[in-house]
Amino acid sequence: MARPVIALYQFSRRRFSDSLRIFFFFPTALALFSSLTIFFYISSTSSLFARPHHLRLQPPPPPPPFSFRGSRNVSRRPPVSPKKADVLQVARSSSADCGGNGGRGRSTQILQLQPNGNFVNNEVFHDRDIFLEDYKAMKRGFKIYVYPHRRDHPFANALLPVTFEPGGNYASESYFKKVLMKSHFTTKDPYKADLFFLPFSIARLRHDDRVGVGGIQDFIRDYIFNISQKYPYWNRTGGADHFYAACHSIGRSAMEKADAVRFNAIQVVCSASYFLSGYIPHKDACLPQIWPRQENPSNLDSSKRTKLAFFAGSINSPVRERLLQVWANDSEIVVHFGRLNTSYADELLNSKFCLHVKGFEVNTARIADSIYYGCVPLIIANHYDLPFADILNWKSFSVVVATLDIPLLKSILKSISSQEYKTLRENVLKIRKHFRWNTPPVDYDAFYMVMYELWLRRSSIPPLLLGTSSAHSQ
Ligand SMILES: *[C@@H]1O[C@H](CO)[C@@H](O)[C@H](O)[C@H]1NC(C)=O
Ligand SMILES: *[C@@H]1O[C@H](CO)[C@@H](O)[C@H](O)[C@H]1NC(C)=O
Ligand SMILES: *[C@@H]1O[C@H](CO)[C@@H](O)[C@H](O)[C@H]1NC(C)=O
Ligand SMILES: *[C@@H]1O[C@H](CO)[C@@H](O)[C@H](O)[C@H]1NC(C)=O
Ligand SMILES: *[C@@H]1O[C@H](CO)[C@@H](O)[C@H](O)[C@H]1NC(C)=O
Repeated sequence: MARPVIALYQFSRRRFSDSLRIFFFFPTALALFSSLTIFFYISSTSSLFARPHHLRLQPPPPPPPFSFRGSRNVSRRPPVSPKKADVLQVARSSSADCGGNGGRGRSTQILQLQPNGNFVNNEVFHDRDIFLEDYKAMKRGFKIYVYPHRRDHPFANALLPVTFEPGGNYASESYFKKVLMKSHFTTKDPYKADLFFLPFSIARLRHDDRVGVGGIQDFIRDYIFNISQKYPYWNRTGGADHFYAACHSIGRSAMEKADAVRFNAIQVVCSASYFLSGYIPHKDACLPQIWPRQENPSNLDSSKRTKLAFFAGSINSPVRERLLQVWANDSEIVVHFGRLNTSYADELLNSKFCLHVKGFEVNTARIADSIYYGCVPLIIANHYDLPFADILNWKSFSVVVATLDIPLLKSILKSISSQEYKTLRENVLKIRKHFRWNTPPVDYDAFYMVMYELWLRRSSIPPLLLGTSSAHSQ
């Protein structure tokens, strides 16, 4: 038991050092901007640097877009001269363009300096150029070894991909495996593999009479034991270069008799709450929960979104109880509990903001639903490690509100200007493709985005142990 724990420490250190590229550029850029801010602040307020006529401040700039942390009271720091400092335009050439408008060629990233000293990024990517470059490298070179199982294996139903088109609430798990195993990422040569896929399906095991909810933990423990006897790959890293995917939250307790999976392997799961033990941010990754929808809404761009906000669901958590308590009879924030009498799709198409509210778990399919119908997600789910948060700038296309701020919901939404809302909506349409499953996959769709998240974590493999004869002899 000690080995996997030691392994965790060793590998997590490597993992961090390898993500250095991303974690290096970000802080450096931030530090640079902060220095600039301080410099401008000093130079605009201090007589040491500025001549008197430079001291004249402009009228205070408009309230900051996308800073909705609960109240309109922003910190009372004196405004920085908006003249030069408030908009830094970083023009950057990018040869590729992810998604649709490939002809643009050049993208302009605008970082706005707010009166409270923060920079606001309205771009949907944290760093588009780094992402595009890495994405290409990922598509070219990323290799996955999938533990092979024969069609006549007694648990082939849970170990092999489904033959039908996945549907419903937990479809993401089945889609991911189905698409992965047909993709060019898989390799039959384990010594070429960056990562190893554990192909058990939690959703299928849960409904298998031989296993069921009560038997999943034993099944996983036995499965890991079996592969660690039969193959050398599990033992050489304690599972750190292995991953599985699961969408149902039962997956969390399913690993309780297989600690090495929880602590070392990469868990790609829908219920990605960093408040709960069992999910380790940065090591694990969030699988977006997507209810596959076939009908294609024609009026996505519709400007006749008449309702301010909409929610439908059951009352199965204190957070939803609170929502009901405060907004039950409101005419603008429509919260509907119980069976919906109208078309769900129409409600999402007719609302400006669509609520995702934590239920039993932080995750539901509602975020993907609202994105699908072009509605700006309003997320109330503390500690949710949002899907693709390594890549996407969630503040640019959603509003995240803390549970405590439910009573402030309306004032938060009303404080968003129509221009700010327009930007949020346009960005929702830009990121829509990332929340779709396709067979075969389509560039930048949910499958490739999850693969990219895995690729970011691939470096957990200790190079010393890789592909050398020592790996065989262990
Ligand atoms: C906001 O500021 C006003 C006065 O400036 C104050 O009365 C109010 O309590 C503040 N609200 C919050 C939430 O801090
Ligand atoms: C593990 O191997 C044993 C012996 O081959 C087999 O009976 C059992 O079904 C396997 N269990 C799993 C979960 O693969
Ligand atoms: C992996 O480790 C386990 C437990 O230490 C051991 O029983 C097993 O034989 C090892 N597997 C291989 C392939 O050496
Ligand atoms: C909403 O209206 C109903 C019926 O008028 C009333 O019974 C209920 O207490 C109201 N709820 C809230 C939260 O105001
Ligand atoms: C659904 O709504 C319509 C009109 O809004 C109403 O006539 C009907 O009775 C409702 N049906 C149910 C089952 O509540």
